[in-house]
Amino acid sequence: MSKNEPKKAAATEAGKALDGVRILDFTHVQSGPTCTQLLAWFGADVIKIEKPGTGDITRGQLRDIPDVDSLYFTMLNHNKRSIELDTKNPKGKEVLDALIAYCDVLVENFAPGVLDRMGLTWDYIHKLNPRMIVASVKGFGPGPYEDCKVYENVAQCAGGSASTTGFRDGPPLVTGAQIGDSGTGLHLALGIVAALYQRNTTGKGQKVLCAMQDGVLNLARVKLRDQQRLAHGPLKEYRQHSDGLPFGKAVPRSGNDSGGGQPGWILKCKGWETDPDAYIYFITQAPVWEAICDLIGEPGWKTDPGYKTPNARLPKLGAIFARIEQWTMTKTKFEVMEICNAVDIPVGPILSMKEIAEDESLRKTGTVVEVDHPTRGKYLTVGNPIKMSDSASEVKRSPLLGEHTDEILRDVLKFPEKQIEEIKASGATGQAKRMAAE
Ligand code: COA
Repeated sequence: MSKNEPKKAAATEAGKALDGVRILDFTHVQSGPTCTQLLAWFGADVIKIEKPGTGDITRGQLRDIPDVDSLYFTMLNHNKRSIELDTKNPKGKEVLDALIAYCDVLVENFAPGVLDRMGLTWDYIHKLNPRMIVASVKGFGPGPYEDCKVYENVAQCAGGSASTTGFRDGPPLVTGAQIGDSGTGLHLALGIVAALYQRNTTGKGQKVLCAMQDGVLNLARVKLRDQQRLAHGPLKEYRQHSDGLPFGKAVPRSGNDSGGGQPGWILKCKGWETDPDAYIYFITQAPVWEAICDLIGEPGWKTDPGYKTPNARLPKLGAIFARIEQWTMTKTKFEVMEICNAVDIPVGPILSMKEIAEDESLRKTGTVVEVDHPTRGKYLTVGNPIKMSDSASEVKRSPLLGEHTDEILRDVLKFPEKQIEEIKASGATGQAKRMAAE
């Protein structure tokens, strides 16, 4: 907490891990909001600053219901408070300065240079609050691309994920999982918590930077491993090898291969002709090879030297999986799951988002949560994936634009009424403009 702040409210008995931590949330779109949402779930008080009138651009993007905050916005901004504030208005800047003095962490993911143009240099912030941690997401770290604006798929491409995703005879592919945005938000949240911990010793804030390219590369590190292995021979667990094709100079796209002694592939299950998700991921883990042979009706492969060991099987992976698929096609993916798990064969059903939305067990653990919203009504969201025994996560709906403007000026910053009136009259909170339009 900053040095001049009022005393924090007493925590409930168990409390939450980040009770008392105050976040000035200057984030927008996805990467930054993912980070601050996580911190809010752990109990931090997250105050989101939004441009008057429009707010976070995602409020109005991919709308499914007219004039209602989009699911894009609501699903990334739970448990936060929203203040409308024009930070380029001198009165708005006054509020911003007070919030900087009040908060522990400023989180932002503006384009490079935006914070400086607002006058919020590190020196300026540090003078107002030497304990302030300033956490940023940028597309690239220092270097030739540092000034570029970046979105999810740009980061997936620049971080090495796209070149290694997809089938070898097809173009590079981006993944549906938002490893550039949400992945970097996760990295940043860890950086913030580490900086808060270090501040306990140093008493000082610091800058925390996560570049989306770096975050993606961190998640794609096994591919940089393979790049170096390639200098010493073919990547034998890649289907390319068993298909007798040469490797080039860079790690190829490996389709659905998985690594090492545990080769895997996606196989058709009963109903695949009409159901695009009637598939299962099947792993031929070495210790359960004999169980696999028995299941698929190839008991001879248990002792046949051409199949007995993982190395002997590597050149025949295509044919082996084709044989296993003959068996999986006679069962539904859930039947395969049940039969295989009973004998410890690791398999994973390809679950559609519809199946996930309807999954009762995910509802029970709070991984999928139904939330009520005053203008949208009920919707589903993903709850905190990190479960802690002493810091329960309750998912509260996202704030309406400027819902907490008054509360923050009055109860958080404790501004006198006269000052609040002046701020509002200046248009810094957007209300003067709206009143004029009424
Ligand atoms: N009051 C007044 N002005 C405000 C404001 C407020 N409350 N909040 C934002 N602004 C202004 C900023 O000052 C800036 O204006 P300026 O360029 O005149 O200085 C502008 O709004 C926002 O800037 P920017 O971040 O460039 O938004 P953008 O929509 O053009 O670009 C991104 C969006 C995501 C491409 C860009 O922010 C970016 O590259 N971010 C870093 C990487 C990232 O997080 N990408 C993933 C997004 S999911």
